[in-house]
Amino acid sequence: MDNNNMAGILYDFLMVKFYFCSNIGSPNMKKKPTYILGIESSCDDTAAAVLKDNIVLSNCIANQEVHRAYGGVVPELASRAHQANIVPVVQRALSIANIDKKELTAIAYTRGPGLLGSLLVGSAFAKSLALSFDIPLIEVNHMQAHLLCHFIKNEEKQPPSFPFLGVTISGGHTQLVLVEDFFKMTQIGTTLDDAIGEAFDKCGKTMGLRYPAGPEIDKLAKQGNSEAFEFPIPKVKNYDLSYSGVKTAFLNLINNNVAKNPNFVANNLNDLCASIQKTLVQIIIQKITKAKEDFNLDQVVIGGGVAANSEIRRVLNEKAASAQWEVFLPPFQYTTDNAAMIGVVGYYKHMQNQLGAMDQSVNARLTF
Ligand code: KG4
Ligand code: ZN
Repeated sequence: MDNNNMAGILYDFLMVKFYFCSNIGSPNMKKKPTYILGIESSCDDTAAAVLKDNIVLSNCIANQEVHRAYGGVVPELASRAHQANIVPVVQRALSIANIDKKELTAIAYTRGPGLLGSLLVGSAFAKSLALSFDIPLIEVNHMQAHLLCHFIKNEEKQPPSFPFLGVTISGGHTQLVLVEDFFKMTQIGTTLDDAIGEAFDKCGKTMGLRYPAGPEIDKLAKQGNSEAFEFPIPKVKNYDLSYSGVKTAFLNLINNNVAKNPNFVANNLNDLCASIQKTLVQIIIQKITKAKEDFNLDQVVIGGGVAANSEIRRVLNEKAASAQWEVFLPPFQYTTDNAAMIGVVGYYKHMQNQLGAMDQSVNARLTF
């Protein structure tokens, strides 16, 4: 290669570099916005959202009432309801966002964890749409999304900074997570049996409350005395937790007392709710406190349906009043399953060019 050729290559290289740097760095150059469609179908909510970068333009959910009669989610019924709901929910999300489907930059969908049949409906739909529009497909871990919902643009609060202690509390999961970066998460503790939301729901079922009982227990507890009944706090090593013992203790209390007085539950409903709620919250708060101290972390970031619970919010807000605790509780619309959290993960993955593949299958037991 002669000197002229070398100089030419060097010149081209520098020009290309200058072009990219100037596009990224120049304050005058406006970055083209990304429009991400998020699709969530991991359990019993069919949800779709449209985001412009990390700003939510629409966030639509079709709840499945069909499960109420059974006291829990029936997987086969959930898949069928997703099939019926997914087209209207996506159409509604696009219409509220006021964008045409051809403007979408990418489609993000929940790959797992969740119910296999439910996940398959969302993923098949997302794949077909991405294929037909010829745009990227992005797979999202549902549990990561519960924590990363805090990165949705919020005028009132800045997002957390890494590293932080992530805590996912939902109907299917109870996890303590060391979050070092968007996609660098390590589970440090989890429930050995029931999830906290599951414990709320099962205790509620024992009292004859409708599924999901968590919100109803929360409501009734407000009128009750949380000291009326006492339940054991399990002793579990490190950052793991257990909820099955307290659930059994609750069931035994109800059965023993109903045998003597058939009106026991009705007569004590508010106190039972307040007492069990206090115990369920105490169990996780103990572990959050231990993990936060041991890992020397200031920020505690909560995600999942149980983050809506007023007792856990009260206790954590009380902690946040001290200088060593900064607590991030999601706005209510991002506590239970939603597609805005899937969309925001899609946005950050798209930025990092972490794109999914058409042959990637769903994973009901997907981990971090
Ligand atoms: O995250 P999520 O919507 O679905 C799962 O991925 O599991 O969480 C649903 C769970 C249910 O167990 C429900 O009872 C519980 O969240 N939940 C609550 C409250 N709101 C929802 N539990 C206690 N208090 C609440 N206010
Ligand atoms: Zn969830």
